Amino acid sequence: MKSEPKITSSQLGIGDMDPAEFRAAAHRVADIVADYLETVGSRRVLPDFRPGDGKRRLPEEPPASPEPLEAILADYLSLVEPNVTHWQHPGFLAYFSSVASGPGILGEWLAAGLNSNVMLWRVAPVSTELEQVVVGWLRRMLGLPASFDGMFTDTASTSSLTSILAARHVLPGLDARREGLSGREGLGRLRLYCSTEAHSSIERAAIVAGVGLSGVRRVPADSEYRMRPDALASAIAEDRAAGWWPFCVVATLGTTSSTSVDPADAIAEICEREKLWLHVDAAYGGAAALAEEYRPLFRGWERADSIVVNPHKWMFTPFDASLLLFRRPEAYRDAFRLVPEYLKTPEGEIARNFNEYGIPLGRRFRALKMWMMIRWFGAGGIAARVREHCRRARELASWIDADPDWERLAPVPFATVCFRRRPAALRGREGEPAVAADLDRTNETILERVNRTGEVFLSHTKLAGRYTLRVAIGNPRTTGAHVRRCWEILREAAEGEGGAA
Ligand SMILES: Cc1ncc(COP(=O)(O)O)c(C=O)c1O
Repeated sequence: MKSEPKITSSQLGIGDMDPAEFRAAAHRVADIVADYLETVGSRRVLPDFRPGDGKRRLPEEPPASPEPLEAILADYLSLVEPNVTHWQHPGFLAYFSSVASGPGILGEWLAAGLNSNVMLWRVAPVSTELEQVVVGWLRRMLGLPASFDGMFTDTASTSSLTSILAARHVLPGLDARREGLSGREGLGRLRLYCSTEAHSSIERAAIVAGVGLSGVRRVPADSEYRMRPDALASAIAEDRAAGWWPFCVVATLGTTSSTSVDPADAIAEICEREKLWLHVDAAYGGAAALAEEYRPLFRGWERADSIVVNPHKWMFTPFDASLLLFRRPEAYRDAFRLVPEYLKTPEGEIARNFNEYGIPLGRRFRALKMWMMIRWFGAGGIAARVREHCRRARELASWIDADPDWERLAPVPFATVCFRRRPAALRGREGEPAVAADLDRTNETILERVNRTGEVFLSHTKLAGRYTLRVAIGNPRTTGAHVRRCWEILREAAEGEGGAA
């Protein structure tokens, strides 16, 4: 007979969960996660869940008294686990992947157990130094020189914001740290440059940094969605003549829509000449530099002032983990450092106090999961997986190229393919407004049908105004068979669409 779930005596006391009780529960949770990972591929990637479904099933009031763990886990299993969108699913090919590998999950669990807050060396000595070492490992793995120091943040958005604030800080004559930005005489308006393809996090950083959206100049891209250095140079000249204060350029190596790669070398040349901070957003693409043959795409990024690469995107690290590398740590420290009495420690000047280099005081112990992951896979093992994802993407691109009813809409430098259904009969007529609108509608319908199958989940973007389907490969659980099946599903979904059959 099944026994009733019980409230335990530790729940009725005023301390924490009893260690023996915790041990049993942790084993149970480990089984739940292992079961999940074992079966995730057989679920629908997108759950059958409508807005409000969760709130309707959850009590508005928190429980006033303890509930049995068994009941909580039962609700987790019936309500939470089946109703997430399954980022761990091999058919999750939307956006960019964000996959938690086994060793990464184990590292996250251990970090949760320690709850080491990596704000000051004193309160996190080995955690601080492990972070420094793992940042160094990643720097080497990416082929970057020892002149880069760095740290982990939560997201690329934070890494870019922090860097843009450091760039603002070193701009002569501004001293926003002390004086702020408003109500001052004689200041020019701040200007930041990025391409038309740059991620919205750069504009968000500009909002926060007091640059404002109108202070962001979107530099035109070429036909392959890469920033045009000639257009950047003339934009800077024009702005200087008009009294703007240019201070920062963001180059994107692996843009969000098409994964295009801005020419970092030519952009670095301009930044050095113009004395502008160069920030490289390689949040997605950076992982490809783990494989040596992709390094030529990154030529010039070693000249940047700061670089962001997200291990939580394409390096199988559980969310969150963003690697921020910088060449001038003092720019960050000077921009952010505040040491009130209660944060003074004897090691202040001889050891790193990471909180002084960014915005938050408290910081998660992110290095542990990366340390475990890099050791478990080996640097070569991570690179081999990234390489394989790129190969599969090229394979998919070749199938698309070989089918006259489909059209690829961007080069495939990494592991993301951008394309659309364009029936052979309509070739050459894509520019006609009625045809263009029809193609957009067709591809939107295809995407809906594909996602309704539950087998794969794809997302879309617009490239040169055209509705574009995207397949982003980046999950070690995604096999060649999954990619083949995805292509089959796309073609099935297109049957009868657009008069091509
Ligand atoms: C190029 C690029 N930069 C930045 C971001 C934002 O990443 P995060 O969610 O870590 O802030 C993304 C997200 O996809 C991205 O593609």
